Amino acid sequence: MPNFQLAGKRVVLAVTGSIAAYKAIGLLRLLTQSGATVHVVMTESATQFVAPLTFEVLSGLPVTCDLFSGHQDMKHLSLTKQADLLLVAPCTSNTLARLALGLADDVLGTMALTVQCPLMICPAMDGEMWSHPTVQAHAETLRNRGAIMIEPEIGELASGQWGQGRLAHEDTILTAVEAVLHPQRDWQGERVLISAGPTQEPIDPVRFFSNGSSGKMGYALAEAAIYRGAEVVLVSGPTKLMCPQGVMRVPVITADEMLQALTARFNWATTLIMAAAVGDFRPKLVLSQKLKKEQWTDEMLLLERTPDILLRLSAQRTHQRMIGFAAETENLIEHGKAKLKSKQLDMVVVNQVGGDHSAFGNDFNEVILLTPNVAPHPISRMPKRQLADILLDHIMTLPLPSSAVQTVSSPTS
Ligand SMILES: Cc1cc2nc3c(=O)[nH]c(=O)nc-3n(C[C@H](O)[C@H](O)[C@H](O)COP(=O)(O)O)c2cc1C
Repeated sequence: MPNFQLAGKRVVLAVTGSIAAYKAIGLLRLLTQSGATVHVVMTESATQFVAPLTFEVLSGLPVTCDLFSGHQDMKHLSLTKQADLLLVAPCTSNTLARLALGLADDVLGTMALTVQCPLMICPAMDGEMWSHPTVQAHAETLRNRGAIMIEPEIGELASGQWGQGRLAHEDTILTAVEAVLHPQRDWQGERVLISAGPTQEPIDPVRFFSNGSSGKMGYALAEAAIYRGAEVVLVSGPTKLMCPQGVMRVPVITADEMLQALTARFNWATTLIMAAAVGDFRPKLVLSQKLKKEQWTDEMLLLERTPDILLRLSAQRTHQRMIGFAAETENLIEHGKAKLKSKQLDMVVVNQVGGDHSAFGNDFNEVILLTPNVAPHPISRMPKRQLADILLDHIMTLPLPSSAVQTVSSPTS
């Protein structure tokens, strides 16, 4: 859904010779749909993967590939002078090294030395290349120099191997570009404690009770809050998600561990957002050895309640806004209102789980916001990252508890 966040912005998109060069086409489309004027620069190797004509047609502007042709208008200097962002996507290990060392033997290298605007780098390469100490050292040099590094993702690589090296998803890059070019710092000074993902309760060393939560909503909230200037601690159950840059992640497994991690940081926080799907039950007996089929008896899976984290934190509340999530399969508003009241929360975000539009695992979500003495506020289906910003807008308007006494301590204390 185009939002024209980048209207009036000029982006220089530098494409380098990675197998992921074709993904820059999708990225270019997203940037232009968001309103940006995009001038594409390609390394010589990049032209082996995608023809400049493709970028030329889609951007509506000539593509710059060569330092020496068209030198009359000094493109290597003029382009970045007018640009709001130099975005290198995908960035090869070779270009990463050349940027770190300041080599100026092609258009991109020359531009990078004269650039006045932010430099955003999206590496893409084989997993072994990315983890190589030399590549990591170059990435660190560039980060230290102020470049924004959008880490490659973990997944299947062009080699067929599994590892970290895939170009970050184009939506992730677009979000980062929008955050850099439109810094909305309205959460600056806020300290946000977010829980995300499922919990796992062991039955024996190899089996556990859990649920289908992916953690995507909590991670989207963490990313949105960090982009808007907050300090963010993310207490996360087991997920496959990458931690958003700048967010401090505290990994936990069980409900008890989540309670401890949140309690330790609750005093530090100005806002608690409990987006995790904490398991309500756990086996009474946890076996130290793997349970064999023949050993099974019905009594082995007697369950007990896990701690009610929100209720416990609510009892210790001094100055924090407290927001809960309710994942329900039926009577959404009724169950959400009961949670709002029993845990004395400032807001409950109710979402449906199960069925075709289940919130679990999905990149999209539709929710109903419940706040005390206000009619339920439905929010229609949209990407979780977009929803995260809308939720932060609403949370910002919630009054702080009247007994508010600001207590600041370290998030790790
Ligand atoms: C099929 C193929 C795929 C490649 N993919 C990548 C890649 O994803 N990442 C990378 O760092 N290098 C990759 N390379 C190597 C680069 O193309 C090579 O290092 C080149 O010199 C990069 O030049 P540039 O950084 O100026 O674009 C690939 C090479 C080939 C032949």
